[in-house]
Amino acid sequence: MKQFISVTDAGSIDMLVKEALAMKWGVLPVNRLGVGLKLGMVFLNPSLRTRLSTEMAAKNLGMEVQVLNMTSDSWGLEFAEDVTMDGDKPEHVKEAAGVLGRYFDLIALRSFPGLKNKEEDDSEMVFRAFARYSGRPMLSMESATRHPLQSLADLITIHEHKEKKTPKVVLTWAPHVKPLPRAVSHSFAEWVLAAGYDLHIAHPPGLELDEEYTRGANITHDQNEALKDADFVYVKSWSKGDPYGELHKEDENWMLNEAKLASAPNARIMHCLPARRNVELSGALLDSPRSLVLAQAENRLWSAQVVLKRMIESIHNEASNPSGY
Ligand code: CP
Repeated sequence: MKQFISVTDAGSIDMLVKEALAMKWGVLPVNRLGVGLKLGMVFLNPSLRTRLSTEMAAKNLGMEVQVLNMTSDSWGLEFAEDVTMDGDKPEHVKEAAGVLGRYFDLIALRSFPGLKNKEEDDSEMVFRAFARYSGRPMLSMESATRHPLQSLADLITIHEHKEKKTPKVVLTWAPHVKPLPRAVSHSFAEWVLAAGYDLHIAHPPGLELDEEYTRGANITHDQNEALKDADFVYVKSWSKGDPYGELHKEDENWMLNEAKLASAPNARIMHCLPARRNVELSGALLDSPRSLVLAQAENRLWSAQVVLKRMIESIHNEASNPSGY
């Protein structure tokens, strides 16, 4: 695995999920094949789960890890080409990422979308710049468009808790006080569809996700219809695609609660966290036995560990066979 940015880098999802679970259950002995390799974890946005689980996974594999909170601990970055840097950004990404490439063998990056310019966010301008100027394999810790480590952890969690081969999985939009990126929802949809599960997406009109991620899902504006007989309900807020990045302020009644799940008695509740209690979903639901949110967070470790293991294997293969023969 040369990079991990989207589901297309995963190869067989089934094999990835099963290898992660074999690690979790102790069937696979801890493999220290990361000894001698350095991971740089660069954050342009806050994190709790991603930071801790990825660092833990890398150390389990024997890697050395350094974390850089770029926005608080480093220089403001310029990304524009041929710019006269007389403003408030003292360092260009060409040098910053180039330096990271000299220090680390593998670079993990968190870079949320600006939510101002859809074309720029969809192009993954920041992520591509770090990849290009560092020259190192890149691991996404959530980019402008996707959050693959979260999606893999979500699929591991579904695999552990499903009682049928093809469960009904519902992604339901939730109200929020802030406009949120669409990356988790897009990523979840593309991974669930790639896994072959029965995906239903429910949202109020005007909150359509991008079709490239949701093709093959059943999409409805009727939350009750979507929830009927659901096996897994993934609660997530996202901002509008048009006008891009806007908060949808109406439809507070889309908050998920126990009463709405009367038609889905066996449904388990999922959320990537952090979750706004009694805004996105009721606190009672989060505290109930239906909730899988802590299981998802726990599986972030195994998601990161299996992905890092595959990326380290690729680095070793490349080193032993640089010409590719
Ligand atoms: N779900 C998730 O990525 O959590 P953090 O933002 O805390 O890393």
